[in-house]
Amino acid sequence: MPVLTILPEGKTVTIAEGATLLSGLIEAGVPIDPKCGGNAKCASCHIFVHDGRKTITKTTREENERLDQIVGVGSKSRLACQAKVGTENVTVEILGFSSGF
Ligand code: FES
Repeated sequence: MPVLTILPEGKTVTIAEGATLLSGLIEAGVPIDPKCGGNAKCASCHIFVHDGRKTITKTTREENERLDQIVGVGSKSRLACQAKVGTENVTVEILGFSSGF
């Protein structure tokens, strides 16, 4: 199974192919609160994907529209609830909800 590495701490978890990055973050104990239930509405799961961007599912129009509305978005931005893992390892960086992790 692919390995999800979570920066800045560098914690790793295995994640099933087809699972969302959000599910991997929750499994790793990241204190994330998916306020919208994983429906690309709240942006509380905004992360940067550093490695493995080609293996995760493409950004949907709905995700893009939500990303366009939030501050601090960059070329590596994804909503963890919308990005599903493929066959390769992925490295992400958690952002605003990372305190205490
Ligand atoms: S959990 Fe709300 S946008 Fe991802």
